Amino acid sequence: MSESGFLHDVGKIVGANGLIVDKQQMRPYLTDWRGLETGTALAVVRPTTTEQVSEVLKIASANGVAVVPQGGNTGLAYATVNQSASPSILLSMSRMNAVRAVDRVGMTMHVEAGCVLLAAKQAALAVGRQLPISLASEGSAQIGGVIAANAGGVNVVRHGMARDHVLGLEVVLADGTVVGGLRALRKDNAGYNWSQWFIGAEGTLGVVTAAILRLSPLPRHTVVAMMSVPSSQAALDLLALVQDELGDTIVAFELLADASLALVETHFGLKRPIAAAPWHVLIEAQSSVNGLREAFEVALAKAFESGLAQDGVLAESETQALNLWALREHITEAEQREGPSAKHDVSVPISSVPAFLERAQAAVAREIPGARFNPFGHLGDGNIHFNVLLPQGQLAKTANEIVHALVIDMGGSVSAEHGIGRYRRDALRQMRSPAELGLMGGLKKLLDPLGQMNPGAVLSSPQSDAGRRG
Ligand code: MLT
Ligand code: ZN
Repeated sequence: MSESGFLHDVGKIVGANGLIVDKQQMRPYLTDWRGLETGTALAVVRPTTTEQVSEVLKIASANGVAVVPQGGNTGLAYATVNQSASPSILLSMSRMNAVRAVDRVGMTMHVEAGCVLLAAKQAALAVGRQLPISLASEGSAQIGGVIAANAGGVNVVRHGMARDHVLGLEVVLADGTVVGGLRALRKDNAGYNWSQWFIGAEGTLGVVTAAILRLSPLPRHTVVAMMSVPSSQAALDLLALVQDELGDTIVAFELLADASLALVETHFGLKRPIAAAPWHVLIEAQSSVNGLREAFEVALAKAFESGLAQDGVLAESETQALNLWALREHITEAEQREGPSAKHDVSVPISSVPAFLERAQAAVAREIPGARFNPFGHLGDGNIHFNVLLPQGQLAKTANEIVHALVIDMGGSVSAEHGIGRYRRDALRQMRSPAELGLMGGLKKLLDPLGQMNPGAVLSSPQSDAGRRG
């Protein structure tokens, strides 16, 4: 079939509002969040139902057209920026955005893939429950993308990754087969748990169209504090201290370099409310049991006595708590405004974070004179965004190679929560054994024998596009 015949048929399935072929209108979908790379596609296709997704995939596969599913386009790993010359469509899930049901007693939520994370969270709050996935990008990130990337965020230390919130999934395979598993069961050991295959697969095995998510009780008390600490080792010791004192009430434990907060001040005018120090931590604890704040104050007093913390502020109101979080959540946008950077999303065993930070900084400074550092992230689960602000004309590749080699040497991961996308494919090959890569390749072949689902993302394929400058 000709290209125009194919697009005509797709248009018949999704309607005029569901098909974008105008280059200018397609651009925001095809360009990554940082605006560095733009992909190609015959069209942006915006279905409104699972049946439409299925019909589109059927004719795409019959015509040899690749399909790149997309959520909120906030993934940062170029998972939906396809620059291959082979024909493809970008499948935007944004019009499938309904919250179909919320079960307060069963603590589950049935939601479509294109629902924005924040909207899903608000729907849970409306019945006195919480969906405790928290990302800086939650105002744009969509549930389908969050699942496809197995996103993490700031609450992983207590609530786990996206996969820990998924009870049931509906997916559409490359040939259009709808696989329905929208079950709201907490316990279900019937056969292979196939839904897990699609979580973190970045749209390379099929399209996530809907999910049943697990909700949590809404805690009555929340305490948020920001502390200055003299070193990353002190931050780690402080983590152990608050875990001893406050147990699993700790929901978030974030590490912020002073340089990160300085960027936020420069670009957004938000000032840190505590003394400058090499590092800061942002801690959030939650509980429905009374006495959380008192216990938190005892923990902080011990932190000061032992010299682990030098200065600190405990939020006195919800507004103050939100202001502390705003400092953290603006770091990525401040970095973006500062200029080009080499982004990293690495994890190492939690107790190795201080050693990693020291070694990474020394190694990058040695190879890239003039590099500046913006390391921040989720110390509570060993995931640091060791981002490097690059001097003029310097590409990300060198910094990426140095940091990834170190991470692999330290038994870590080059992708803790953003995914591999097209940005970290080479690093994936270095950190997974031939047996593991063989298993991944076998699964890909089984579910997508023609290689049409997001080709070039995660695993390289003959249709892979060129490497990225980052
Ligand atoms: C974050 O934790 O804010 C993000 O994952 C974003 C980033 O790496 O810049
Ligand atoms: Zn992060």
